[in-house]
Amino acid sequence: MSKTPALVGSLMLAALLAWLLAPTSLPEHWSDSETALIASLSLSALPPPGPDPGNAVADDARAARLGHRLFFDARLSANGAVSCATCHRPELAFSDGLSIAVGTGMGERNTPGLIGIAHSPWFYWDGRRDSQWAQALAPLETHFEQGAGRGAVARLLAGDSAYRAMYRELFGELPATDQIPRHASPRGDEAARSNWRGLDPALQAAVNTVFANAGKVLAAYQRKLMPGRGRFDDYADRVAQDGAVWQDDSLSRNEIAGLRLFIGEAQCVNCHNGPLLSNHDFHNTGILPLAGQMPSMGRFDGVLEARRDAFNCLGEFSDAAPGQCLELRFARDDSELAGAHKTPGLRDAIRTAPYMHTGAFATLAEVLEHYNEAPVAMLGHNEAKPLGLSRRELRQLEAFLRSLDAPPDTAPQWLAPPTESPIQP
Ligand code: HEC
Ligand code: HEC
Repeated sequence: MSKTPALVGSLMLAALLAWLLAPTSLPEHWSDSETALIASLSLSALPPPGPDPGNAVADDARAARLGHRLFFDARLSANGAVSCATCHRPELAFSDGLSIAVGTGMGERNTPGLIGIAHSPWFYWDGRRDSQWAQALAPLETHFEQGAGRGAVARLLAGDSAYRAMYRELFGELPATDQIPRHASPRGDEAARSNWRGLDPALQAAVNTVFANAGKVLAAYQRKLMPGRGRFDDYADRVAQDGAVWQDDSLSRNEIAGLRLFIGEAQCVNCHNGPLLSNHDFHNTGILPLAGQMPSMGRFDGVLEARRDAFNCLGEFSDAAPGQCLELRFARDDSELAGAHKTPGLRDAIRTAPYMHTGAFATLAEVLEHYNEAPVAMLGHNEAKPLGLSRRELRQLEAFLRSLDAPPDTAPQWLAPPTESPIQP
């Protein structure tokens, strides 16, 4: 029996040594399947964003210029103080640094970053919009975001001579807006809805068209926001060329160990894959609702709302032929989607804190802690399994996420407010 303490002691020593030596005891090469996986995460594998058939001006430079101005124009809000850029700040990869967004009122969700957003087939955490231009219309009318209403949007475009000229070039003459009350929308408060009902149907249709076009130019602008290559992409491209590369100067040992976990044991790559590190699909990762909020139904409600949206791909304001709206027509809508949210890309993760649709985690370390524990979901079931990673491994994963940071591949002019000050009526 007297041997037991010595045995325990030597076992502990062995465990300690194994732990200390862990990073060097990893195989110093990538297998063929790992090489292929790493190559698939490089920006070199990112195709140009797919066309948006619903938006005829999606790739028109004039539309991007007008959209750029609208994105930064706080006159498009009920109180004249909130623009898209209030919540989507260029220096934070177009997120806002807040747990929950604040516009003309207190919001409900965390603000996602927008770099590379044109690659996403669905918009919002719950995918309740099917195009970037349809998405852009929602904050303009949501009472706690900008709350301007489509009447005010049409009046501003018609009333600002620079906007009027830019709009005319793209879409033709604007309708006369003197009969349109600023406060008029089918989605506003009682007064706005009543003003909207009072409008002649032809004028309603004209306002809706102008409104949809505002969304289309905002989308054209956001299509310019593209991720830039960083150290990780150099590393991934070298691995792709020479599968044996384990170390080079682009990534540190810790970052490489984090990459190994990301594509291996930690299973992150199951959902965070492709060059943007998102599968653009919806998953339940057991994020608890914020105190006082109902759990979000997520994609389960989102897909129904996208189908109902008057500005969706199949709607009358879309430029797409019905045959081009397959994504919307064949979207999954089963009950498995309860509590599922869109997988965010991770290239800008260090700039888009706090995290998750609830903004519940202030740091990447907290996010990783959550994955390590994988708590039971309140609604539906958590698809991620507990990982049981050590502190050191969690730090390596975090080091890998941080290594993805890189300036966007976007001309500087798009990352700042437009230099021409908006011309008043
Ligand atoms: C009050 C802050 C706020 C304002 C103003 C705002 N947004 Fe957002 N934005 C958010 C939040 C919060 C979300 C996520 C909401 C959700 O998913 O329920 C979001 C989501 C988005 C998304 C979807 C991102 C994704 O990953 O699916 C896009 C695109 C976007 N906003 C663009 C815009 C544009 C364009 C404007 C101006 C017309 C705008 N936003 C105004 C806060 C704001
Ligand atoms: C089952 C799919 C799935 C797996 C596996 C997964 N994620 Fe996620 N990830 C998501 C979804 C979905 C969200 C958004 C969840 C929400 O807000 O409800 C998310 C959010 C995140 C965020 C926050 C990003 C932001 O902008 O808010 C980070 C960081 C992240 N994941 C990293 C990881 C890492 C690292 C791993 C591996 C340990 C991992 N994820 C595994 C699907 C997954």
